[in-house]
Amino acid sequence: KIPAGFFTAFDRQNSLLYNADDYEERKLSDLQGCFVAEEIRHQMALQENKTVYRVYKKTAPLVAGELLQAVTVLFPGTVNGEFFMTRGHYHIHPKCAEIFFCLGGRGLLLLQKGNETKWVEMKPDVIAYIPAGWGHRTVNTSLAGPLVFIAFWPAVAGQNYQRRLKEPFGKRVFQADRSYVIGDGD
Ligand code: F6R
Ligand code: ZN
Repeated sequence: KIPAGFFTAFDRQNSLLYNADDYEERKLSDLQGCFVAEEIRHQMALQENKTVYRVYKKTAPLVAGELLQAVTVLFPGTVNGEFFMTRGHYHIHPKCAEIFFCLGGRGLLLLQKGNETKWVEMKPDVIAYIPAGWGHRTVNTSLAGPLVFIAFWPAVAGQNYQRRLKEPFGKRVFQADRSYVIGDGD
């Protein structure tokens, strides 16, 4: 039998990471300041307070050379027509890149560096590369099901959730007919 420390598996049926040892859930109440319609988000959080995403992580020692991995399941939904998204962050360590491998659903990966915004269309089998120094946030652009992806990054990277307030994502993603439109950010 292979010791659990040496492998994980994507459980496609249940959309989770088998052998994960850490888990995080973000609800609308955790996403203050993410959506244009902040007051509507607040009201939604006081009422149903939907789960926006879940993260299943596999831990490793937080030292140079080690790698972390996590499956994110970003549920479908909008706040006043703006699609559900992750909080988004910059890595604390300026030299740490990251890879996202899309396992299911449809979405966009927004990348931010200074005033420059880029995006990658996420769909099954797309492997996105986030170069060191770029802030990153994912958006589920489909109401039909979750956007699911696995991320791999250096264990020493760390996540800074404050910096996006000063260096915000320059684009926002809204519902439009059966598709999406990319609008300007803050
Ligand atoms: C790790 C990483 C992803 C995100 C996850 C949730 O560096 O980029 O695993 O942590 O998609 O998004 P945030 O962390 O922005 O809440
Ligand atoms: Zn990251």
